[in-house]
Amino acid sequence: MPEQRLIQTRVECIRFGTHDTNLYELRPVDGTELPAAQPGAHIAVHLPSKLVRQYSLLQAGEKPLSYLIGVKRDAASRGGSSFIHEKLRVGDKLMIEAPRNNFPLAPDARHTLLLAGGIGITPMLCMWQQLKVQGHNVRLIYSCRSRKDALFLATLDGEPGVTLRFDDEHKGSHLDMAAVLAGAPADAHLYCCGPLPMLQSFERQTAAWPAGQVHVEYFSSAQEQATEGGFSVKLARAGITVAVASGQSVLAALRSCGISTASSCEEGICGACETKVLAGIPDHRDSVLSDGEKLANYTMMICCSGSKTPELVLDL
Ligand code: FES
Repeated sequence: MPEQRLIQTRVECIRFGTHDTNLYELRPVDGTELPAAQPGAHIAVHLPSKLVRQYSLLQAGEKPLSYLIGVKRDAASRGGSSFIHEKLRVGDKLMIEAPRNNFPLAPDARHTLLLAGGIGITPMLCMWQQLKVQGHNVRLIYSCRSRKDALFLATLDGEPGVTLRFDDEHKGSHLDMAAVLAGAPADAHLYCCGPLPMLQSFERQTAAWPAGQVHVEYFSSAQEQATEGGFSVKLARAGITVAVASGQSVLAALRSCGISTASSCEEGICGACETKVLAGIPDHRDSVLSDGEKLANYTMMICCSGSKTPELVLDL
């Protein structure tokens, strides 16, 4: 599997989003067009410290000249958002990957309900804008702790079909997910992106919905990596078998044998390491594949998923 090609960009502009979120416009250094970006897509940003972080694109386009991302400064930052907020300046260079989209809009949806919490508005903004421009039936509910935490207020406030909901205006209570979903048409496609408790509530409340109508985008890993090891991975094309030891992911085991494959987030949220499974049953731990896709076992994310069988045969 080829490693992802990196694109060298320059920070064209930094804009204020909210008290803890800035918007960064990234433009290719060589002035060429960037790869097309669909609503819901994200890019991986490679920081000088070798950290790789995923950020949703705020604008979609066929031949974009720049990408716009929103970066919230995480209080528990391990060097990603804190570096971007404290060190990154206009004119600095930054390597990025081409967009991936694990959160695409269903083209034939008759109704779409977008549920965004906090920074989870970042993929939703251009999803909402595209559906609106195309005349689709779309509703957006954007929930934040308070008005001062909300991005794009001037764009969204007062728009038909948009509900802004602030916890501090409801005695600190969170969005009532069950009530929101009870009002959604049965054929609606449901999208949710936001903090982990919101996503978990959404997944609980949508457990009985048709799986194809439920779409979730995670910004952080929802599950522990499988690092129990004790199985082997046979690479069908390379003709070699690698043992995965306790404490290792499949990706780490391959690397320790000098085998390089595509990867990015290494926590099961971006899809870069998706690998075809030819035999064996993976122990899926990612947040990219749907429940149906996990059951089918056609592919797995080798950065975080393990094996339920003594051997996995991969198309590598
Ligand atoms: S590297 Fe991102 S899902 Fe595996």
